Amino acid sequence: MNDMTPIDYQQSAYSMAAKTFLSRAPKLFIDNEWTASSHDATIGVEDPSSGREICRIVDASDRDVDRAVAAARTAFDDGRWTGLPPIRRERIINRLADLLEAHADEFAEIEAIDNGKPKGMAAAVDVPGAISQLRFMAGWASKLNGEVIQPYTMPTGAVFGYTLREPVGVAAQIVPWNFPLLMACLKIAPALAAGCTLVLKPAEQTPLTALRLADLVAEAGFPAGVINIITGYGHTAGDRMVKHPDVDKVAFTGSTEIGKLINRNATDTLKHVTLELGGKSPVVIMPDVDVAQVAPGAAGAIFFNSGQVCIAGSRLFAHRSIFDQVIEGVAATAPFWAPRPSLDPQAHAGPLVSKEQFDRVMGYIEAGKRDGASVAMGGDAPVADGYYVNPTVLVDVNPQMSVVREEIFGPVVVAQRFDDLDEVAKAANDTCFGLGAGVWTKDVAVMHKLAAKIKSGTVWGNCHAVIDAALPFGGFKESGIGREQGRQGIEAYLETKSVIIQL
Ligand code: NAI
Ligand code: MG
Repeated sequence: MNDMTPIDYQQSAYSMAAKTFLSRAPKLFIDNEWTASSHDATIGVEDPSSGREICRIVDASDRDVDRAVAAARTAFDDGRWTGLPPIRRERIINRLADLLEAHADEFAEIEAIDNGKPKGMAAAVDVPGAISQLRFMAGWASKLNGEVIQPYTMPTGAVFGYTLREPVGVAAQIVPWNFPLLMACLKIAPALAAGCTLVLKPAEQTPLTALRLADLVAEAGFPAGVINIITGYGHTAGDRMVKHPDVDKVAFTGSTEIGKLINRNATDTLKHVTLELGGKSPVVIMPDVDVAQVAPGAAGAIFFNSGQVCIAGSRLFAHRSIFDQVIEGVAATAPFWAPRPSLDPQAHAGPLVSKEQFDRVMGYIEAGKRDGASVAMGGDAPVADGYYVNPTVLVDVNPQMSVVREEIFGPVVVAQRFDDLDEVAKAANDTCFGLGAGVWTKDVAVMHKLAAKIKSGTVWGNCHAVIDAALPFGGFKESGIGREQGRQGIEAYLETKSVIIQL
């Protein structure tokens, strides 16, 4: 871990493929065509590793949003997608996965340039994760069956009752900047398998991989209008998507604040809504563990993706008897997680995504210090101008501090001691969030007890942030509504229709 070369904060040169893509300035993808906006407004996209603008994207107008929704509406209503045999839908979704795989290296590089995450991480996590979401959901296209139901109050044989599973309609899908391609595929995959059509809006900070994905849509064989991808700001384009009367379903991943707003805005037209929001996930380390093994796991739980992860293990609870050892072990990972430019092959972490996030994270660290927290590791930015934040551990914290209560969304963990299981379960649940939790112990009984007591959508045992397309993912409390992935993930894009026929 310590034999790494000194860090050069200069971003490396881009590949020819990436340069070609950036110079193309893709616009709006509607009805399987690249089309211009109705106005001239654009948004600059920057490489967070250098802070330089690398291209400009369309800031979609109301008319642009309306065109995209109209394309999706027509494609849904005329049955060009829903009406296909499931085997065809399955094949086309799988073909998109194949194309993504064929261009994996280019997608990993573009993601690294756009988001700031190391290219190696994008290649190991984001791109294969996106492919796996598509492949898992493709299989569901052919397994969406209703059931024959015997009525309760009528004589057997008098009526024939059954259910049909039908796609909910047009989906508006809004995704954030922390895992841009993965989030995009996680959103579109179940919608497509269910037979829905969609309009996808990537985050304005990281639109590039979604736009590159659009290039592959027609080649994969999707009929025009099934997948529409538009870029723009949330409060304008995103807001119009959420309120649009021709949209039936909204799927959003992002901040809890905007999730609440979207839920309110979708109410007028009673859209179906799924929300994947913020977190403040606890990591609980019991006294029986091998600290040398577990400390790097606790470090990875928070420092992966520079802490810009909704399930980041941002509250560390270590048993009093091993607390100091755990903190030492986490601090020893500093060279490994030190941020580097995203195209540095030695990078395990990159800069934060934007100046806004940098200021926000540094602001939290300062607030923590003002409130009396001590910095056990990091706490600073390694270069004066740039979005790099060193991995940070805060100790001497208490449950009232903003660094303990609020989602920081950066490489900052707050560490606390505990004495017994009930106490740590209570402390772990002392939050408005409930997205994920990690428990580290060799004691199977303790593991199951804590898994039952912690109120969160996922509990990991002796690991953290392990995500699999087959396992439902979502939040308790203010971390969200509904589930993505797994069978529940496709259910969110289906209506159930009961049919009752008098015989
Ligand atoms: P955000 O929630 O504002 O943005 C996420 C997405 O929502 C973007 O595509 C944005 O364009 C869109 N959006 C924003 N306002 C909208 C509106 N009124 N209607 C429809 N769509 C809208 O998140 P932001 O501002 O980028 O980050 C702020 C904080 O949110 C972060 O510091 C972090 O704490 C949290 N966050 C959580 C994420 C998660 O995975 N749970 C992902 C990104 C941010
Ligand atoms: Mg915002």
